[in-house]
Amino acid sequence: MQSIPKSGRPWAELKAELDDAKKHDFSWRGGRMALYFYYLNEEVKRIQQEAYCAYWTENAMGQRAFPSVKKLETDVIEMGLSLLHAPKEATATFTSGGTESIFLACKTARDWARATKGIATPNMVIPRTGHPAFDRAGEYLNIEVRRVPTTRNDFRADIPDMARRIDGNTVMLLGSAPNYPFGVFDQIGEIAGLAQKYGLWMHVDACVGGFLAPFAKKLDYDIPDFDFVVPGVTSISADLHKYGYAAKGASLMMLRDAELQKHQTFSFNNWERGAYASNTVQGSRSAGAVAAAWAVMNFLGEDGYMKWAAVLMDTVMKLADGINAIPGLAVLDPHELCIFVYRSNDPALDIGAVANAMTSKGWFVGRQAEPAGIHMHLNPVHAESADEYLAHLREAVSEVRQSKTRAAGPTERTY
Ligand SMILES: Cc1ncc(COP(=O)(O)O)c(C=O)c1O
Repeated sequence: MQSIPKSGRPWAELKAELDDAKKHDFSWRGGRMALYFYYLNEEVKRIQQEAYCAYWTENAMGQRAFPSVKKLETDVIEMGLSLLHAPKEATATFTSGGTESIFLACKTARDWARATKGIATPNMVIPRTGHPAFDRAGEYLNIEVRRVPTTRNDFRADIPDMARRIDGNTVMLLGSAPNYPFGVFDQIGEIAGLAQKYGLWMHVDACVGGFLAPFAKKLDYDIPDFDFVVPGVTSISADLHKYGYAAKGASLMMLRDAELQKHQTFSFNNWERGAYASNTVQGSRSAGAVAAAWAVMNFLGEDGYMKWAAVLMDTVMKLADGINAIPGLAVLDPHELCIFVYRSNDPALDIGAVANAMTSKGWFVGRQAEPAGIHMHLNPVHAESADEYLAHLREAVSEVRQSKTRAAGPTERTY
């Protein structure tokens, strides 16, 4: 086991070691992986870094001491709220990522239901495609999670089945915009309608779509209404560090009505140091993520987001068409934004073996468990690697056909 070295070493030596350590990682910059990262280009990366570094020492918890951080955070929140058609009573919290935004939405819904309806053993009803963050929140917060299988033909929420799982202890319903496994939007209007009928909290998980779908919609892609324009939507999670292209550690948890925030706030006043209150899970947090989000949003502007959404959507179509043109492979339909899955429709072609062949050609492959397939979560940078990806995929398919290889089974982590 490593221990802290007896004596320090020079920074130049350590920096060289860090640079060297990265050499064996997969290259996100070259578009060789389709998960875990969101990258536009070197210019935006430099802006993220410089803005982050300008504020990395400031503590975003201490906004009375750092009024400039409060101003930056308010700007980011207002840009997000206006993009998602929030009414003037709305508010939002800058969080560390989708998981924290979802955790806070669940916590706020739970405490709202406890305060207003006396619900002591809460549950939430969500489509099975919902992100694992909902079960994580359920486990931490003692909320039962009822996952309802989606409809088989379009991977969307099964509304009648969701309705059947609602009971007197249900506090929250979920719709994803879009869901992560298939890139499909749940029927937000119908789920919100159910929420209104039964007086429930309705959360929209737009961690993926929040900062992309509005621009794809303006480009005339067929994107359903999913945000606060839909009556009955109570809260939305939308990640800045995904398609907002901010540095990691940035998401918004939005509330339709700032009044609801009293159920979110943690307040405490039982120690010698006096009153403490916070809306985030984190205590101290770097203001770097706030400054980086602010800088990238202002640098790109609506024109920039539109431009990159167009590049991304073209790339999705190009890759999906190219994959469908390879005999034995089929892209699952529908898929509506930046995510899709493809699988084998030929029993003689094992998709796990194709995934392994692509891995040995230097691609980091996202594996779908059900149905067995390859998961693509695309970024604009994939525009540059799309032709090479398709060429390697054609080679991989023909190698697997020739060798008749089958993968040993889903032994690897899929995420
Ligand atoms: C739909 C959806 N919700 C939530 C999350 C969680 O976000 P994070 O990894 O930023 O915590 C993700 C992550 O991919 C996601 O795809």
